[in-house]
Amino acid sequence: MSFENIVLNPEEAEITDKIDKIEEKRLNLFQEVDLPSEKRSGEFKQFLEEKYVNLSGEENFDELEEDFIIRKYFDHFNFKEEDLKNKDILDLGCGPGYFVKYCLDENITSEAYGFDLEMDSELAEGKYRDHLQKGDFTKKIPFQDKKFDYILASASLEDLFVKEKNEEAKEVLESLLSLLKDEGEMRVYPLRKIPPEIAPEETKRDKEKMERLLQAKKARENWKKVLNDLKEENLIDFKIQPIDIRVLSYKKDFWLEELLIISKISH
Ligand SMILES: C[S@@+](CC[C@H](N)C(=O)[O-])C[C@H]1O[C@@H](n2cnc3c(N)ncnc32)[C@H](O)[C@@H]1O
Repeated sequence: MSFENIVLNPEEAEITDKIDKIEEKRLNLFQEVDLPSEKRSGEFKQFLEEKYVNLSGEENFDELEEDFIIRKYFDHFNFKEEDLKNKDILDLGCGPGYFVKYCLDENITSEAYGFDLEMDSELAEGKYRDHLQKGDFTKKIPFQDKKFDYILASASLEDLFVKEKNEEAKEVLESLLSLLKDEGEMRVYPLRKIPPEIAPEETKRDKEKMERLLQAKKARENWKKVLNDLKEENLIDFKIQPIDIRVLSYKKDFWLEELLIISKISH
């Protein structure tokens, strides 16, 4: 059936239309991150203002809260539960493995696995034992080739790119590619796009905070280098999608958080 032939009832069509418009508006706002601050729209400034108002709430959350982490995975990786139904999933650098456990407990899939340098043996007990493994992804990732539909990396690959270990990062990505099915995808969150007003000379303003921003900028540049190398070698294709703006302080520093989707080119 062609797209034009899908007939929605008027109410459904109206809701779908509204959701599409909100989504389009968000995407347009995200594009303004690249503009000089004086060229940004009133709407963008209002959007940021609302984020600042909510900032204290956001920064006070308990990072380890299980529900928060599970919701974060769905939002950040842009998944609905049905997207993961019966898929083979690897959560690389899974932390305590909450997302893996959720996928198993909710019968989303029986093939969810977590891998982390620091795995608490008590967490990886019982029915989770074979699903949560301890190890170092810069050394060996002990899964069979072409196993996974999705490999997810939530804030776990950053170190390689912040520390500019590009060769090592490329090797890790190559070994992850071999674990993906031909039509599989790797999803990485976040890449961070820094607004143009954050220039190195700004570091004098607030050294610690600026350090974070500049590190994120450097990491994104390194990601681009490694990704472009792999693309030139005809091993991958990739796209980067804006997900949300993250406000860092009451001084109105922010960055755009992005989702990186890498697909494998099979030969
Ligand atoms: C910031 S935490 C993120 C945890 C979880 N993915 C989340 O988003 O809540 C990064 C995780 O990556 C893991 N990690 C970092 N380097 C790793 C490596 N070389 N091999 C395996 N895990 C690693 C850390 O142990 C840590 O649990």
